[in-house]
Amino acid sequence: MSTAGKPIQCTAAVAYAAKQPLTIETITVGAPRAHEVRIKILNTAICHTDAYTLSGADPEGAFPVVLGHEGAGIVESVGPDVTNVKVGDHVIPLYTAECGKCKFCLSGKTNLCGSVRDTQGRGVMPDGTSRFTNSKGEPLLHFMGCSTFSEYTVVADVSVVAIDPTAPFESVCLLGCGVTTGYGAATKTANVQKGDTVAVFGAGTVGLSVAQGAQRREASRIIIVDINDNKEKVSREFGATDFVNPTKLPAGQTIVQKLIEMTDGGLDYTFDCTGNVNVMRDALEACHKGWGTSVIIGVAAAGKEISTRPFQLVTGRVWKGSAFGGVKGRSEMGGLIKDYQNKKLKVDEFITARRPFAEINDGFEDLHNGTCLRTVLKF
Ligand SMILES: NC(=O)c1ccc[n+]([C@@H]2O[C@H](COP(=O)([O-])OP(=O)(O)OC[C@H]3O[C@@H](n4cnc5c(N)ncnc54)[C@H](O)[C@@H]3O)[C@@H](O)[C@H]2O)c1
Ligand SMILES: [Zn+2]
Ligand SMILES: [Zn+2]
Repeated sequence: MSTAGKPIQCTAAVAYAAKQPLTIETITVGAPRAHEVRIKILNTAICHTDAYTLSGADPEGAFPVVLGHEGAGIVESVGPDVTNVKVGDHVIPLYTAECGKCKFCLSGKTNLCGSVRDTQGRGVMPDGTSRFTNSKGEPLLHFMGCSTFSEYTVVADVSVVAIDPTAPFESVCLLGCGVTTGYGAATKTANVQKGDTVAVFGAGTVGLSVAQGAQRREASRIIIVDINDNKEKVSREFGATDFVNPTKLPAGQTIVQKLIEMTDGGLDYTFDCTGNVNVMRDALEACHKGWGTSVIIGVAAAGKEISTRPFQLVTGRVWKGSAFGGVKGRSEMGGLIKDYQNKKLKVDEFITARRPFAEINDGFEDLHNGTCLRTVLKF
């Protein structure tokens, strides 16, 4: 019997308050309205941004909410006027929408899209309402326009892309955030070229994916900087030519001095993949005078600000940032999936644990174990 046009009851993990475990319960997911798509999520991973919002550190984080933004699934039904996907399509929800019509999309200068920005930030669908209700009839907020921690979710049509149906959900769900973010930051935002020198601060999924992007572009040197020695092995597997632990330098030597010494004056490109504003400064100052560019990817805690001496920029270093790796989800996801299928893009290598969805709270614990890259949950 078709569920199209009707509410669906299903399992979801609801975040009722900051710093509390998620509550696994049955929620009701409303039918998609005009320009909306209801997706049966098959796999979702947990990203640090979910943990960041759950920690309460995100000033814009609101509760109760259905978190999750790294997922993949099948279109169950579509509302009126949806033309880009159809029932049965395999899809990835996109927290960076692509409408193709707004000032941002038409600029050719950015992957940011203005079409659903305001409502997405407020945790509601573009018409200002939620599709999720709990058993008490209370509405639950959406998250990053995706809410993949629910067996069914509803997203705006501009926030979903159909993918090759032969691509495995349990792997390509990671392209919904971390892998794409790092890979795109190297290959699109920085546009690393053959022979360039690169330093990556933070060897998580994002940083390691920056490294694989730099390796794909044939960077001559890929230095990964991480305070956790356990990350050296995996860093080298993802293309690092060098690994430096900044806490183990000789007395008096800073990480900036070390990197400048290693590269005869500094790097062509550096990337912050830690979210620490002191690291962001080091990453900028380790850039080569005259042209070195530093890309901020990490999400800093609320209220934090970056600083450096203006002279660093006057003398040619460039500071920029990158969201979702500068990737336009609807136009460019297909290429990333092909790269994965042709073994040019590592994805499975990031999966350090697989769990049933019911163990989602253990999945959040995995994030703190020091070797976790991604835990993939299965409904
Ligand atoms: N801009 C975007 O679109 C976007 C998308 C996804 C994630 N993010 C952000 O990117 C960052 C990285 O995400 P992740 O999933 O790879 O995180 P992660 O926690 O898995 O990895 C972070 C790594 O940084 C290392 N680290 C911590 N402090 C350090 C320091 N002072 N110097 C060097 N290394 C240090 C840790 O040991 C860890 O290996 C997070 O801030 C996340 O919120 C941004
Ligand atoms: Zn993420
Ligand atoms: Zn747009």
